[in-house]
Amino acid sequence: MSVIILAIESSCDDTSAAVLKDGVVLSNVTAGQKVHKDYGGVVPEVASRAHQINIVPTVDQALVKAGVTREELSAIAFTRGPGLIGSLHVGVCFAKGMALSLGIPMIEVHHLRAHVLAHFAEDPKPNFPFLCLTVSGGHTQIVKVKDPYTLEVIGSTIDDAAGEAFDKSGKLLGLDYPAGPLVDKLAQTGEPLYQFTEPKIEGLDFSFSGLKTSILYFLRNQLKENPDFVKENMNHICRSIQDRIVSILLNKLEKAAKETGITEVAIAGGVSANSGLRKAFEETGKRLGWDTFIPAFQYCTDNAGMIAVAGYFKYLKEDFAGQEVVATPRMK
Ligand code: KG4
Ligand code: ZN
Repeated sequence: MSVIILAIESSCDDTSAAVLKDGVVLSNVTAGQKVHKDYGGVVPEVASRAHQINIVPTVDQALVKAGVTREELSAIAFTRGPGLIGSLHVGVCFAKGMALSLGIPMIEVHHLRAHVLAHFAEDPKPNFPFLCLTVSGGHTQIVKVKDPYTLEVIGSTIDDAAGEAFDKSGKLLGLDYPAGPLVDKLAQTGEPLYQFTEPKIEGLDFSFSGLKTSILYFLRNQLKENPDFVKENMNHICRSIQDRIVSILLNKLEKAAKETGITEVAIAGGVSANSGLRKAFEETGKRLGWDTFIPAFQYCTDNAGMIAVAGYFKYLKEDFAGQEVVATPRMK
C-alpha cells in the first residue's frame, strides 16, 4: 500500500503544506507573509496570526494539487522546531487536530534536519556521507550527514546567520526586508570594488557580526565625503558585501571538506538561492573535485516539501510523535 504524507511547515513567516507519496513530492504550496516588510523584519505576533488565516486554505490547496483526499493520508508530518513559538504552535496544533480526527500517526520534524534532507526531494541525490552547508535567515551550519538519521553539526555561527548578514547589510543600504534577494539582484550588475574584512574565527565556526560593523563604518566615512555615495554605488556595494559573505561561507566549507575527506558537498536553506553563492560553490567544487548538490529553488527556502521528505524517513522507522508533543522554539 502507498504511503501518503501531508506535511506542514510554519516555523517562521511562511505557511507551507506539501503532499508526498512513496517518497515523491506531489505538491508543495507556500503562502508567504508580505506584511512584515513594513516592519523591517518578521514580527512574531503578526506571523502567528497570519499562519492562522493561511493554514486551512494552504493545506486544502496542497491536497487538491496532489489529487489526494484526507482519508487517503497515512500520516501528518509537521515542524516541531526550532522557530518562533507562536508560529510553530499554529502548525503543531493543526497537525494534532487533523491527525486525531483522521486516526493517523503524526511525525515531528526538526526544521534544520529538513533543510538538509531537502536534497532527497529530487534527483540528483547526494551519496552518504555528505557535507551540507545550511544557510538561512536563522541558522548557518556545516552538517556532516552519515545517513538520513545521523547528522552532526561540525561548524556553526557564533553570532548572526548568513541570511541575517544579507538582511542587516541591506537594511544599512535602505533596502526592504528581506534584503537578501535584493542584494543578490543588485550585485549582478556590480563589481567587488570594496574590501570588507574577513573575520578570524578558529575552526569551522562562522561570525558575521563584524562584517555588519565594518560596512556601517565604511558607509559612514563614504557618506561624509559624498552624501550620494550609496545611491551612486549601490550595485558595487551589494556585490562587495555578497562576495565577502560568500567567501566566509566557502572558506569554511572547503576547510570542512579537507578535514573530513568528504567530497559529496551540498548547500541548503534560503541563502542557497543566492546566485553568487551558487556560482562560487560550483566553481569551488570543480576546483576541488567535489560532487556538488543544490536543491531546486522551491526546496531552498522554507517549505513543507522538505518536511515531508524528512517525515517520510521517520515514517519508514515508525518514529511517530504522541499527542503530548509541543512546539519547541529552541531545539538542539
Ligand atoms: O531558509 P529561509 O527561507 O528561512 C529561514 O529558515 O530563515 O531563509 C530566509 C533567508 C533570508 O535571510 C533571506 O534574505 C535569505 O534567506 N535569502 C537570500 C536570497 N534568497 C533568500 N539571501 C541572499 N540571496 C538570495 N537570493
Ligand atoms: Zn529555514
